[in-house]
Amino acid sequence: MDKLVVEGGARLAGAIDISGAKNAALPLMCAALLAREPLTLSRLPHLSDVRTMNKLLAQMGVGIAEEGDRITLDASRIDWPLAPYEMVKTMRASILALGPLLARCHEARVSLPGGCGIGQRPVDQHIKGLVAMGAEIDLENGYINARGRLVGVRYVFDVVTVTGTENLLMAAALADGTTVLENAAREPEIVDLAECLVAMGARITGAGSDRITIEGVKELHGATHAIMPDRIETGTFIAAVGATGGDALLRGARADTLDAVVDKFVEAGLTIVSEGAALRVTRTGPIKPASLRTAPYPAFPTDLQAQFMALETCGEGTSVITETIFENRMMHVQELMRLGAKIEVEGNTAVVTGVPRLTGATVMATDLRASACLVIAGLVAEGETTIDRIYHLDRGYERIEDKLSALGARIRRVN
Ligand code: UD1
Repeated sequence: MDKLVVEGGARLAGAIDISGAKNAALPLMCAALLAREPLTLSRLPHLSDVRTMNKLLAQMGVGIAEEGDRITLDASRIDWPLAPYEMVKTMRASILALGPLLARCHEARVSLPGGCGIGQRPVDQHIKGLVAMGAEIDLENGYINARGRLVGVRYVFDVVTVTGTENLLMAAALADGTTVLENAAREPEIVDLAECLVAMGARITGAGSDRITIEGVKELHGATHAIMPDRIETGTFIAAVGATGGDALLRGARADTLDAVVDKFVEAGLTIVSEGAALRVTRTGPIKPASLRTAPYPAFPTDLQAQFMALETCGEGTSVITETIFENRMMHVQELMRLGAKIEVEGNTAVVTGVPRLTGATVMATDLRASACLVIAGLVAEGETTIDRIYHLDRGYERIEDKLSALGARIRRVN
């Protein structure tokens, strides 16, 4: 199993390119299932989750051609509208195949995802929405068996869910009649998906707001779409550069998707300015304490909570960080404390009291974003930090050690 070894203390400086967004790429790849003509996506990040999605689509009969950062998905035939447990268990986003398969094939069999490290993560909203659209769904042997022709409805989500919104958005694109999704998630990845669907011939308005209207069409056609830059990768590098007191240019970062994130890092003492199609991040003064609560977009994302906490472990004061999206997303705290961080957790709130320095140790990555948090902490800790179980990291970060090395970090992967 691979590990990352980080020698702390180097100040990050230079320039890197931000990759395409994982959380946009996965739903966009599933959108290919909706059309008989090929969908080409550019700025595809090279991630293990993308490879898992490739495998999932390939076993359904989708033709896949990849060249550099472009992928062409040809779903002219779908032989098996099936997402098996073996794939869903390694990547929960496989649930995104449910809506498109049902809309296109009028049947689908998708494994129910289990719980995962960060929380229970049910998919009841996906199922309830599809049932409201006329699907017959039964749960049997751990699988969601769905069939039927979908019709447009007004559907109000009980909770704001990103992939739930994406699943229903894709399903509604081919439904008979108009669907209105209320209390929809507003994440930029949903806007990216809607833009691609519109390029494929879908009729959608309101994506990016909590009310999306979709007028179903008979069929969608092929299209070419550039995947949006990854705002979570961007935020992770902002935290890393800030933690080391560095100065770096993040090329391709989209500031318009990062408002609350930029505001919070600025409150923490960083300077972040747009330079053309890039963001420059610097920190010259101390890290100031800053408190936050995670919440759905446009608020501060849960996917950057752990990385922000890593920064604040060396802040000049006390920061209160509250997680409101997932019930078990504080697993990085124990590991940060192994590096000398001073953190008290009560329920889903962490009180972080900044310390003058962290010291290197061996730590265990527990989930994707917790892994990124530990890398950041390792970059500032004195001596050597070894991060075990980094397969989590490879699910969602493209060549993180190469990008960090390009900025001057002393980091290497060992087997
Ligand atoms: C997506 C992101 C993930 C991010 C999360 C929150 C992808 C592939 N993943 O995950 O990186 O951390 O959004 O921003 O885009 N819930 C229900 N019932 C449902 C669905 C969700 O109760 O049917 C709850 C969840 O348990 C959670 C909350 O709603 O507490 C938000 O989850 P959701 O937005 O669905 O997260 P994902 O789409 O799984």
